Amino acid sequence: MNAYPKSEKYDTAELRSMMMGPNPIKLLEELMEDIVLPAGSRVCDLGSGRGLTSLFLAKEYGFQVTAADLWSEPADNQAFFRRMGAGDLITAVKADATAPAFEPDEFDAVISVDSYHYFGRDPEFLDRCVMPFVRPGGLVVFAVPGLSAGCHETIPEPLLRSWTPEQLDYIQGIEYWRDILSASRTAEVRTLRIMRSNKEVWDDWLKLDNEYAVGDRKAIEAGALRWMYFLAAVVRKLSQEGNAEGSR
Ligand SMILES: C[S@@+](CC[C@H](N)C(=O)[O-])C[C@H]1O[C@@H](n2cnc3c(N)ncnc32)[C@H](O)[C@@H]1O
Repeated sequence: MNAYPKSEKYDTAELRSMMMGPNPIKLLEELMEDIVLPAGSRVCDLGSGRGLTSLFLAKEYGFQVTAADLWSEPADNQAFFRRMGAGDLITAVKADATAPAFEPDEFDAVISVDSYHYFGRDPEFLDRCVMPFVRPGGLVVFAVPGLSAGCHETIPEPLLRSWTPEQLDYIQGIEYWRDILSASRTAEVRTLRIMRSNKEVWDDWLKLDNEYAVGDRKAIEAGALRWMYFLAAVVRKLSQEGNAEGSR
């Protein structure tokens, strides 16, 4: 059985060349299994990169997407969305997730693939920088890489073939994320789980010959996936009364 039926049509040379890490489209397809969100929902793709995940959210689910990213150029991303026939559904913006400038309750959901670990590790981040822009009952949904317990104390040698200890600090385990997310005063954790996507999304990424993929190959080929996984998180914004009533 094909675990990624929707992702298949995105397997083109052009779209593959735009990946910035382990296949984000497959990660997103699996992540979307955890939520129900109607077409037309207003979604922020936070840390959208070059827009592959935004395109997938707009085309496959009919969402109205804000593609928010720091390192990429919004004009390039908008041209890409237009070329792909999704210019009306997606708006590309330059945004620093730690200093966002969205409207209160603007989004039904904030979705983030392989990005949240860059900006979301401060326990205050969710309440301060994300939840004000999510409507009560709305969702924050993300997939990030994870690392087995104990790996930061004694780093397995294969990991050091591609990454420094400082880079590995960005990759934390499921218990770390449980602590961070449960510290929220405005949201409740709905799902926190290890994803089945791992080797196949890395394989897709490592086939590319850009310098980042080539750099990552050394660790993965030396067996790093013994300690690495992706985790999926879904949190729901509480209403002012402190519950998630009123959500769909
Ligand atoms: C590995 S890429 C993932 C991109 C995309 N989600 C994907 O999976 O193809 C990480 C992205 O996080 C974004 N990022 C890092 N720090 C950020 C911040 N403070 N605010 C917004 N985006 C940020 C970068 O611009 C980069 O595009």
